[in-house]
Amino acid sequence: MKRASSCALVAACLSLLAAGPSTQAWSQQASSTASPSLDYEFFKAKVEPVFLAKRPGHARCVVCHTFNNAPFHLVRLSPGATTWNEEQSRRNFELIQKVAQPGFEGSKLVVHPLAEEAGGDPHHGGGQQFTSKNDPDWQTLNAFVLGAKLK
Ligand code: HEC
Repeated sequence: MKRASSCALVAACLSLLAAGPSTQAWSQQASSTASPSLDYEFFKAKVEPVFLAKRPGHARCVVCHTFNNAPFHLVRLSPGATTWNEEQSRRNFELIQKVAQPGFEGSKLVVHPLAEEAGGDPHHGGGQQFTSKNDPDWQTLNAFVLGAKLK
């Protein structure tokens, strides 16, 4: 009896070791019902348009972030296209997870393009795209990170 249970313990430890750090992947946390997760439909309908929108005095996110090497990267638009197709959107949704951790308010996606005075990072190569947290587009990004679903 005693022997059997210690065996089970060893087996459990071994399997943990084998799984390695990837067991802490965000995707796994997000799959539990208690923690927020990123919603693809919300991303496609609400978030991608934010990346395509022109803000006065700024270049659009899509202009830099399809070409530069920043951790935030988007798929290039097809020639002549003004938005992403389904397959490209799916890919964008995977790529965004590098800068959007579900439920984490400090995610780079929301903090980096936000003005420092409003609680954002001091420097962004693309400028202070959002001067305050009241900006509706910023609120869309924030809602997405916090797990908003399309209604
Ligand atoms: C003029 C080009 C330009 C535009 C437009 C731009 N960015 Fe950036 N962005 C950069 C550059 C360059 C970096 C890498 C250097 C840095 O961290 O600022 C970057 C980095 C980032 C990062 C990654 C930060 C990190 O360290 O993980 C995020 C997130 C980001 N930008 C979000 C945005 C969003 C959202 C928009 C649109 C609202 C936007 N950017 C528009 C140039 C741009």
